[in-house]
Amino acid sequence: MKFFIDTASLSQIKEAQDLGVLDGVTTNPSLMAKEGISGEERVIQHYIDICNIATGDVSAEVISTDYAGIIREGEKLAALHPNIVVKVPMIRDGVKAIKYFTHKGIKTNCTLVFSAGQALLCAKAGATYVSPFIGRLDDVSTDGVALIAQIRRIYDNYGYETQILAASIRHPMHIVQCAEVGADVATCPLSAIVALFDHPLTTIGLEKFLADHKKAAQQTAKA
Ligand code: G3P
Repeated sequence: MKFFIDTASLSQIKEAQDLGVLDGVTTNPSLMAKEGISGEERVIQHYIDICNIATGDVSAEVISTDYAGIIREGEKLAALHPNIVVKVPMIRDGVKAIKYFTHKGIKTNCTLVFSAGQALLCAKAGATYVSPFIGRLDDVSTDGVALIAQIRRIYDNYGYETQILAASIRHPMHIVQCAEVGADVATCPLSAIVALFDHPLTTIGLEKFLADHKKAAQQTAKA
């Protein structure tokens, strides 16, 4: 399973890249706003900066909601860097635009997906990625991971190549559960990725190994 980081923070992207396990980046307008990035030129430059740090695909979201606007914005974003994936909302004009981008060889990520039916539409339009928001489903007492499993079964039934990109991940167990049910990608906050490293028995075990090594070295020095 690929690990993407879900942020527009350049420092967090650098930190995740340095871990050696990062496969890409996803952003959205809220994450860009959180970093204080606004205005077309700054937004464009920020995507270029992200592409210069991260080695894999970088999702850049369109703001337009009409077909012509999505195409115009998406083509401009796609021309910035070969790793740019045009992120398009799950609306009628969005799915139609995904079909257009697919024919043009432009990678797409269909966002704001909350049902298997929506995921089926993404696959039929040829989206590169489908982004079901599992945390936001959990927030409304609906099982987000179960949706990932359902989409996996549907895509496998027909051999759809659209990659399931589990989004709105809130904690490390979401990542593990997504891996269990066969998500292709998990896009995560940095905190969820780094939490995977930790286990108290690892910490205790390492302390004991190092203490035993030190004791043996002291005994050898005395002898
Ligand atoms: O990028 C889309 C998604 O990951 C947003 O997550 O935490 O705002 O629900 P969240």
